[in-house]
Amino acid sequence: MMMEDRGIGPPWPIGGVPRDEQVRLTRLARSALTNPSRARRSVGASAGRRAAARFVAKEVRPMAKVLIVFASVEGQSERIAGLVSDHLVRSRHVPTVLNATSEAAARPNLHLYDGVIVVAPVHHQAHHPAIYRFANLHGERLTKMPSALISVSLHAASGEPEDEEEMRQYVDILAGETGWLPRAVHYAAGALKFTEFDFFKRWMARRLVKALDMEVDPKADIEFTDWPALYGFVDEFLKVHVGK
Ligand SMILES: Cc1cc2nc3c(=O)[nH]c(=O)nc-3n(C[C@H](O)[C@H](O)[C@H](O)COP(=O)(O)O)c2cc1C
Repeated sequence: MMMEDRGIGPPWPIGGVPRDEQVRLTRLARSALTNPSRARRSVGASAGRRAAARFVAKEVRPMAKVLIVFASVEGQSERIAGLVSDHLVRSRHVPTVLNATSEAAARPNLHLYDGVIVVAPVHHQAHHPAIYRFANLHGERLTKMPSALISVSLHAASGEPEDEEEMRQYVDILAGETGWLPRAVHYAAGALKFTEFDFFKRWMARRLVKALDMEVDPKADIEFTDWPALYGFVDEFLKVHVGK
């Protein structure tokens, strides 16, 4: 039995589309990789072709290569970086997660990415020192490319205008001292892991909670992060600033 000539077809199945159409689609798919809007325009109006157009739009949509840089003391910013990465994978983008305290953060090869998202926790009224270091080293390049800051703090959980003002100041100081001007900023509420805190951290966290007029059980862990709002910010950043 002769093996079917599968030609140069794409590695995914095109259910119900005739062979000629498959060949045409393959060419279309290839050109869509370099010029997606022209490829979509060139697809005709018949039912089969509409199905083909849907296939091309879905399968060959250009994805974004995104670098996610984080620093974390208690783990919440690391969790945010990981879940933002999972969210990007679900949307067929290509994320890379980098710890700002690692040696690799000194040479992040920023030219390989379409955008950068930095996840930075606030402790003692300032963003993490490793984020300062990263922004000091790469701020100029970051400012020229689509870059976003996710600032993680307890102030973001309070919802009071004066606390929002304080969060903005943390970001202004980071930008002023490093020269990095992110194109988009999201204020994400963090978490308090009372069960893991030592005496000093528990005392600090309780003081903070009191100052912010929040009511929490100081014996339990509590996560304030609004995940839908966070993913919404990431999607918007990719659409508006990265164009993907
Ligand atoms: C010792 C300590 C100090 C903190 N200082 C601040 C602060 O000054 N302002 C603030 O908004 N949140 C503050 N927080 C809350 C943290 O921003 C929040 O716990 C965040 O989730 C920490 O991120 P990480 O888990 O990635 O380290 C503090 C938390 C701790 C434990």
